Amino acid sequence: MSLDSHIESVLWTHDQISDRVAQLAAQISTDFDSDSAPPPVVVGVATGAFLFLADLVRKIQLPVSVDFVRVESYGSGTESNGAPVISVNLKLDVKDKHVILVEDIVDTGITVSCLIPYLESKGASSVSVCTFLDKPSRRKVQVELLGKGKFYRGFQCPDYFVVGYGMDFAELYRNLPYIGVLKPEYYK
Ligand code: IMP
Ligand code: MG
Repeated sequence: MSLDSHIESVLWTHDQISDRVAQLAAQISTDFDSDSAPPPVVVGVATGAFLFLADLVRKIQLPVSVDFVRVESYGSGTESNGAPVISVNLKLDVKDKHVILVEDIVDTGITVSCLIPYLESKGASSVSVCTFLDKPSRRKVQVELLGKGKFYRGFQCPDYFVVGYGMDFAELYRNLPYIGVLKPEYYK
């Protein structure tokens, strides 16, 4: 059975994703262009952000450093359990740096809302969030950015559980180069 045959519908194609990533990177390159501030630190939330981060940083026309954090909040289902735990910490020092937190999707907002105070406690001078997808209709916690941080999003996502471009169901489908919805039989 091919991977594509598990997908019921495609929401964003590889080409649509590439175009949008290029726009986000151009915006970030403009917003963070500074002669005085140290290079921003791009922090990906593992595992989901790995493809988006890889594509995004290759289009940012500024020196940046890259790090990852890992937050455990999802089981193998489709709902956050509401109690995120940072299980892999930053390696880089973000003190007095602008941090751009890169996420695959902001859903309830619980994950990024746990990471922003953590980055603040590490001395970041601002925290921006750059999420590929945003599901504002599902928000349980409003995302409070730090300092002059900005919120960037690729696309607003309808209230479906989506997979691909880094996003999984039960750790599968992250390797799809597009974003889609699984056939119901595969959510079981
Ligand atoms: P939040 O804490 O509810 O905002 O959820 C954030 C995390 O939940 C994301 O980083 C994803 O890993 C996961 N997530 C939320 N919605 C989806 C989805 O539709 N597909 C796959 N993963 C999702
Ligand atoms: Mg994630």
